[in-house]
Amino acid sequence: MSSSDHLTLRRPDDWHVHLRDGDMLRAVAPFTARQFGRAIVMPNLVPPVTTLADAVAYRRRIINALPEGGPGFQPLMTCYLTDTTDPDALAAGFADGVFTAAKLFPAGATTNSELGVTDMGKLDAVFERMTEIGMPLLIHGEVTDAEVDVFDREAVFIDKVLDPLLARVPGLKAVLEHITTADAVEYVRGQKDAREGSLGATITAHHLIINRNAIFEGGLRPHHYCLPVAKREAHRIALRQAATSGEPWFFLGTDSAPHEVGAKQAACGCAGIFSAPAALELYTQVFDEEGALGKLEGFASVYGAEFYGLPLNEGRVTLARGGPPDGEPVNVDGSGAVLPFHAGRELAWRLKTNEEERS
Ligand code: DOR
Ligand code: ZN
Repeated sequence: MSSSDHLTLRRPDDWHVHLRDGDMLRAVAPFTARQFGRAIVMPNLVPPVTTLADAVAYRRRIINALPEGGPGFQPLMTCYLTDTTDPDALAAGFADGVFTAAKLFPAGATTNSELGVTDMGKLDAVFERMTEIGMPLLIHGEVTDAEVDVFDREAVFIDKVLDPLLARVPGLKAVLEHITTADAVEYVRGQKDAREGSLGATITAHHLIINRNAIFEGGLRPHHYCLPVAKREAHRIALRQAATSGEPWFFLGTDSAPHEVGAKQAACGCAGIFSAPAALELYTQVFDEEGALGKLEGFASVYGAEFYGLPLNEGRVTLARGGPPDGEPVNVDGSGAVLPFHAGRELAWRLKTNEEERS
């Protein structure tokens, strides 16, 4: 339902989020649970989530971090792939309903990826088993070779790693995560017939909003640094077109990745943009600017669930136009604060709270 200043959507899901652990988890998880029915939770903790037991324990910590256990929110767990992941153990975790997907971080590509995969060839038995059981592979799609320009790492990954992988393991259900380039948009779109919808892609709110100039605007802007790094404007435009196109292989994944302010504003600042507090509002703003509010529900609440073969959420959320400015730093017990992506930005839409909806 929509009028010019209200929009009601089926409750959306976040198909890619970093919730962290400990004090940070307690500080950030409520934002995700407030907006989304489910979230695919990234496993790049220290140490990473590599076993069924790790995932069960982490899921419990997430639920315990939420007010009243986060009724109406379901964390969906992922397994961090390493060079030695055992296909049987992975398949058992999927059969038990603990692992929804497995996450491929090329070793060294990003935060806490040191134990990730060093050689894709070593995992073919894992990928074949995942194909047999229909378990999705979630891919951080960047090569790590130091000689490859940082802005080209996604496009090179598609040519050198992803395309050969999908040719070697036909039928593998895969998500190219947080796409940042027109190359990725074209690649995913181009696979739709060959792969019968088995290749999807998530798109973050921040890659729809900033281009790479934002990282250098008047000085170095660490809160605009993430991986894959934002690209030039033509790529942002291609991402906006893809997200608002109504094509079901493109769906919502915030990649909200909080780091404490001191870890971002440092000589070697961490990669990650913390968009969770206003994620749905930011996507809504983008779809509104593109004249595509009617396409938001598919992108946010339908296509991802269909890709994963999960039922759609039953609940609804309501957004209203306008609202008071916020974007204050979020306090983290014991270690300072995290700055949300929308700090210093006008938000054109506000998610109504449950209380507001009832009144
Ligand atoms: O910017 C990023 N931050 N990209 C990733 O792939 C990982 C994430 C994190 O965990 O901080
Ligand atoms: Zn991520």
